[in-house]
Amino acid sequence: MYHHIKKLMYTVRVDAPDPRFGNMLLEQFGGANGELAAAMQYSIQGLNCTDLARKDLLMDIGTEELSHLEIVGTLARMHLKPMKKSREAAEADPLVAIAGGGGITLCNSMGNPWTADYLKITGELDVDLRSNIAAEARAKIVYERLINFCDDAGTIDALQFLMTREITHMKAFMAALESMGKNPLEIGAIPPTPGIVDKFFNDSTGEGDEGESDARGPWNEGNGFDYVEGPAKPIAEATEAEVRSEIVQGVSRTRRATKPSPRSKRLRQSGKN
Ligand SMILES: [Fe+2]
Repeated sequence: MYHHIKKLMYTVRVDAPDPRFGNMLLEQFGGANGELAAAMQYSIQGLNCTDLARKDLLMDIGTEELSHLEIVGTLARMHLKPMKKSREAAEADPLVAIAGGGGITLCNSMGNPWTADYLKITGELDVDLRSNIAAEARAKIVYERLINFCDDAGTIDALQFLMTREITHMKAFMAALESMGKNPLEIGAIPPTPGIVDKFFNDSTGEGDEGESDARGPWNEGNGFDYVEGPAKPIAEATEAEVRSEIVQGVSRTRRATKPSPRSKRLRQSGKN
């Protein structure tokens, strides 16, 4: 059951509306890492969840994200509003100005409509919690970029609040995942194949123009990893040899075809050319 309370979760103040910035804010309203995506992802995961304690966590945070949607929508609306009457403001985004009357729509900052394809819902609680941790990290960095592109004190204040809540949620999801007591590499019920699971393939070889080379670190060294140097190399060498032999054969076929045919015995005897 949802209930709307007229007061915003965090008071929003805009000192100087900026339609272009309002357009950027739509990224967090109807974009891939925005508040609607977060609200829907956690709430639908919650509906699937049979673990009642963690279902409560998902529903709590999913519902808070709806309150964030309301904040960011209110903020974007304040910035976009001048588009309603000002031609200059309308030029910041003709779609919002002409089709939307300077109002907010469920689109991202590029005018692409919101889609349920943004949502990561697997029905496997630990896998979903990992998606949520990543989603909160993405939302945090988008808010940070918005703050860096903003010089309106009231707007920065609201964005700082929203950005901070992403870290709180990330912390809660991390704690919930940890409290499940699962080995982090234990996903689902079927174990991975021994031998194959330990192999790290060095599939990017050679040296790059900026000094890139094969790096070693805990992701491919130690930790039970078996480092396989250039696994594609034998195949690449065999292919190169095949191509070379095809070229050589092709050249000799061409030479044979263009060689002048020997003159007939009768012509040779007659001495005629
Ligand atoms: Fe949020």
